[in-house]
Amino acid sequence: MLELENITVRVEERIVLENISFRIRRGEVLALFGPNGSGKSSLIKALMGISGYILEKGRAYVENELINNLKIEERAQRGLGIMFQHPASIPEVKLQQLAERLNSSASEIKKGIERLNLGYLKERSLNVDFSGGEMKRAELFQLLMQKPKVLLLDEPASGVDIENIALMSKVLAGFIEKQRPATLIITHTGYILNYIKAQRACVMLGGRICCFDRPEKILSDITKYGYEKCKDCRCRVSTLSTRQVDKKGGVE
Ligand SMILES: Nc1ncnc2c1ncn2[C@@H]1O[C@H](COP(=O)(O)OP(=O)(O)O)[C@@H](O)[C@H]1O
Ligand SMILES: [Mg+2]
Repeated sequence: MLELENITVRVEERIVLENISFRIRRGEVLALFGPNGSGKSSLIKALMGISGYILEKGRAYVENELINNLKIEERAQRGLGIMFQHPASIPEVKLQQLAERLNSSASEIKKGIERLNLGYLKERSLNVDFSGGEMKRAELFQLLMQKPKVLLLDEPASGVDIENIALMSKVLAGFIEKQRPATLIITHTGYILNYIKAQRACVMLGGRICCFDRPEKILSDITKYGYEKCKDCRCRVSTLSTRQVDKKGGVE
């Protein structure tokens, strides 16, 4: 569903990501770990086509279609959807107005608003003075109502309290089970993986992916050793082609 081949991303004059390769199939969840500034957000912004994040080299495919040269709205039409780590505030737009323009029926929108407990926020300006949890619930609502085929989730649980994480995770897990998108979930702490089952995980360090493994293994290693141990990792999978990565078992 989502396939990346040796992606390099430039921001202004700087290369922030190099040789990123992986594949996420339909219904599969890949967790992406990495310290601050390693390039996680830049990767999904570049995939979505956010301005300033240039796909300098490599190829990105959604359902076997090359998306490198598509505009942001064309990528959204092909099924790419993003949940931002820091969603923008838009004083001129109310959540209700936005909801009416999403790719869902009135009854689906009503249900989504109820499930994510957004009813009392409908007439407020989008994200203006929303709490952390309110902002992320509104962001998740907008994303899921677009019915994306590829979910790019940038730290969906950061700044959110435990009850809201449980609520959002339940809605997200329901969507993944029913719609079976390819899901990339960026997580700093791994906490959300208690709720959302990821089949595989990888670690990004300094703009490169340094290993693929089971989420439980990576989580226990980084909890024990921080990202220090990852620096010694010899996997080097990101420099191989997707086919070679397959052989190594990093990408099925
Ligand atoms: N718009 C931008 N302008 C300049 N540098 C940027 C921009 N966005 C990201 N970067 C830089 O790219 C690197 C990776 O950032 P980011 O992708 O946000 O990391 P992460 O999400 O892993 O914390 C950082 O050094 C960051 O400062
Ligand atoms: Mg980030």
